[in-house]
Amino acid sequence: MAANGQNGADAATTLGPEFTKEVINSMGPNTDPRLREIMTSLIGHLHDFARDVRLTSDEWLAGVNMINWAGQMSNEKRNEGQLICDILGMESLVDDITYTAATKASSNLTASAILGPFYREDHPVRQNGTTISFDTPKDAQVAYMHGRVTDAATGKPLANAEIDIWQASTNGLYEQQDPDQKDLNLRGKFITDEEGRYALYCLRPTPYPLPPDGPAAQMLRAMDRHFYRPAHIHFLVRVPGYKQLVTQIFDRDCKYLENDTVFAVKPELAVEFKPRKGGPEAEWDLEYDIKLGATGA
Ligand code: BEZ
Ligand code: FE
Repeated sequence: MAANGQNGADAATTLGPEFTKEVINSMGPNTDPRLREIMTSLIGHLHDFARDVRLTSDEWLAGVNMINWAGQMSNEKRNEGQLICDILGMESLVDDITYTAATKASSNLTASAILGPFYREDHPVRQNGTTISFDTPKDAQVAYMHGRVTDAATGKPLANAEIDIWQASTNGLYEQQDPDQKDLNLRGKFITDEEGRYALYCLRPTPYPLPPDGPAAQMLRAMDRHFYRPAHIHFLVRVPGYKQLVTQIFDRDCKYLENDTVFAVKPELAVEFKPRKGGPEAEWDLEYDIKLGATGA
């Protein structure tokens, strides 16, 4: 039963710390210890938050409706729950906590960044030196991206590293959001050669806005915020014996670099696209090396 009127209750509520303790203590002995730790903290913070802002029933219900709307809108092509977390900085914070903990003994590593909601697990393997753009729009600028994957500690080249790459088209849409793009356009998996090298043609990325028609968008409008992500390309890099790297590289010339609506930019992930001299297939050249940490390091 809720303990009413106990010491410590805020003047605006009769349900104070004793009530919070009662809710926490309702967890049974078979609760997983890590889940117990998480739920204890979550319940405590949620109750304190409600007391702190003196949350009303109408406001709480508006929040519940927003969560329900996010769930109803989400499917394999769209993840509104993740978008809401992203605009509140949660995915960037969790990425930082996870990656910092996993790599605290290493230095010189390529920095991580959020996965975002548009990754697909079924990227086809493409040959090095080929393209990921199969519907190159007229307003696109093609870039040749290449580099090496190495061990961050020793500089040893890492052969057979799998590099998943994905990006949005110039209309701001990933292929799964856009019926006019071919399936798996602007995506691919590249495998490094014996010298750790990879290479591909892609688009010089352009900034894009988050989807304008869901609860995340409504929240952005309510908070008087813009919708844009700076121009970026996503990477997910895997090599046996090394920690997986999820990251993004950002065009250093993009005007949203300092102002990403999902707070994912790290200065060390800003890159320079240089005019290409090597051939007519691409206007821009981007050399980007990736440094991974060994597991257990
Ligand atoms: C993305 O980079 O694809 C992304 C990340 C967070 C929210 C929306 C999109
Ligand atoms: Fe993206």
